[in-house]
Amino acid sequence: MLGLKLPTDPRWVNIVEKNIEEILTDHAFCEQKATSTAISLIVSFPEYTDLVQEMTALVKEEISHFKMVHDKIIERGWVLGRDRRDEYVIQLLKFFPKGGSRTTQLVHRLLYAALIEARSCERFRLLSEELEDKELATFYRNLMVSEANHYTMFLGFARKYGNKKEVDAKWQDLLEYEAEIMRDLGTSETIHG
Ligand SMILES: [Fe+2]
Ligand SMILES: [Fe+2]
Repeated sequence: MLGLKLPTDPRWVNIVEKNIEEILTDHAFCEQKATSTAISLIVSFPEYTDLVQEMTALVKEEISHFKMVHDKIIERGWVLGRDRRDEYVIQLLKFFPKGGSRTTQLVHRLLYAALIEARSCERFRLLSEELEDKELATFYRNLMVSEANHYTMFLGFARKYGNKKEVDAKWQDLLEYEAEIMRDLGTSETIHG
């Protein structure tokens, strides 16, 4: 599914299930970061008109996801905590060399966003299938459906603006690299942990 090379061990859901407050907090900030990523792409690459149009729509969608998660936190009587350090994202960023042309930088940022969307979508699917908390399982099922197109959109833009052959090769390398990171994760109650 989603081109990912290593599926998440379903036992990760058992860890999550023991600490729903923690996963919801981490998840809320994932949605906030997805919103921020879309805004920063607009700021950095304003001349890519169709990207700007799509990112404008995405900002609205991702911040509405943030609200959905935040509402869920309130419903359960909790208060949103502070953002957590995301080891997955820190490791993932190491794949991309600094510098390069403006187009290269754009392609890297699009591929990075595509991968985070793909992995998040895979994790939401797992939650929707495996959580014993049925209300939360349905919540993740609905979110998964609206996230499913994001990874193909980012990948599509990378192919469109970059050299398609080079982008496809880089995407495959990135998927391999990500699978290596994932081997050491799946052990904490965070969306990517
Ligand atoms: Fe989202
Ligand atoms: Fe998304």
